[in-house]
Amino acid sequence: MTHYFAERPEAAQRPGTVDLVLPDLHLRLETDSGVFSPTRIDPGTRVLLETVPPPPQEGDLLDLGCGYGPIALAMATRAPRATVWAVDVNRRALELCARNAQRAGLDKVRSVHVDEVPPEVRFAAIWSNPPIRIGKQALHALLSTWLGRLAPGGEAHLVVQRHLGSDSLHRWLDGQGFATTRVTSRSAYRVLRVAART
Ligand SMILES: C[S@@+](CC[C@H](N)C(=O)[O-])C[C@H]1O[C@@H](n2cnc3c(N)ncnc32)[C@H](O)[C@@H]1O
Repeated sequence: MTHYFAERPEAAQRPGTVDLVLPDLHLRLETDSGVFSPTRIDPGTRVLLETVPPPPQEGDLLDLGCGYGPIALAMATRAPRATVWAVDVNRRALELCARNAQRAGLDKVRSVHVDEVPPEVRFAAIWSNPPIRIGKQALHALLSTWLGRLAPGGEAHLVVQRHLGSDSLHRWLDGQGFATTRVTSRSAYRVLRVAART
């Protein structure tokens, strides 16, 4: 049994679709076994997409841990002129995200492995339902790396379940010099807004 965050999932393929329906968009997304939340839009992802402010309309945006792409594609729909980097380690997820973007006509989505983002790119915004289950140390390293690539004045929005440690993550981010505010608290989920280091 492999995790949804394995680089090459071993689970037999079981293709399906899910509908992402929000007040401003309706997308049908291909999914598969071996990727995160393959049978429904994750409730945390939905909370994020229902509460986050509109993204910057220009520049480079990031969905950190894109899975099959609901966050990246919502970003791209809301900011059609921006370049949206959809990054993951799971190759099956990346292929699905690329196909979903293509089918939706969102040609500014770059669905790439984490190692393939050019090092000079800085992000005007980051949206993420981060992979909490990789463990605290790995998560901290991941967030330090990518939040450190926010452009000056840029902001990230992260959705985290309360019982998976949203409050301690909030404190840790503040302690690292990323000013963090809890902007949404809905059922089990918290959305944290994280400012670029000044
Ligand atoms: C909670 S899921 C969110 C997936 C998708 N954004 C969604 O909302 O359905 C977190 C994602 O992070 C990915 N991930 C795990 N480790 C990662 C890493 N080191 N860098 C980037 N993404 C990673 C997982 O493969 C998974 O797709």
